Amino acid sequence: MAAPIDIGGLRIVHYPAPVLRRVCKPVETFDEQLERLIARMFELMRSGNGVGLAAPQVGVELRLFVCNHTGEPGDDRAVINPEFGDPEGVAVMEEGCLSLPNVTIAVRRPEKITLRGRDGSGEPFEVRAGELQARVWQHETDHLDGRMITDYMSEAAKIANRRALKQLHDEYKGGKKRKTA
Ligand code: NI
Repeated sequence: MAAPIDIGGLRIVHYPAPVLRRVCKPVETFDEQLERLIARMFELMRSGNGVGLAAPQVGVELRLFVCNHTGEPGDDRAVINPEFGDPEGVAVMEEGCLSLPNVTIAVRRPEKITLRGRDGSGEPFEVRAGELQARVWQHETDHLDGRMITDYMSEAAKIANRRALKQLHDEYKGGKKRKTA
């Protein structure tokens, strides 16, 4: 049985929360709690107008993300224990992140990729895509290995995002102080 999670209490955590730097554990139990976790993650992704959200971004250290690159309900996809194959080409695109408000960073990634994983009920699947879909899959899978877009910053991006990152550090410190007061 999976450890119980307070699903309703989950919120999006911001950089530099340490949970965003952990390597997440594979999902082993496909149960009702996992379904509720996925539903809650879609809810939080939508309320933040995001195209993807990974479990560590809500404080859960499991290899799982949700995504939707168009905003159409039919394009919702939950991906459990993702793996990649057959990368093709290279593309650079500006990326943002729900855990990094007001930060955008140009990231170089394979343009096209095959994604293998399981859906919310544990069924294995394999899909291949390029452009924004491939971009989102790779960005979210980075989260599961404790990687964030800040790891791809050029010197110019460091300067452009310095203020926003400092503000996030200050907010994180302030939040910790409030909690311990
Ligand atoms: Ni992100």
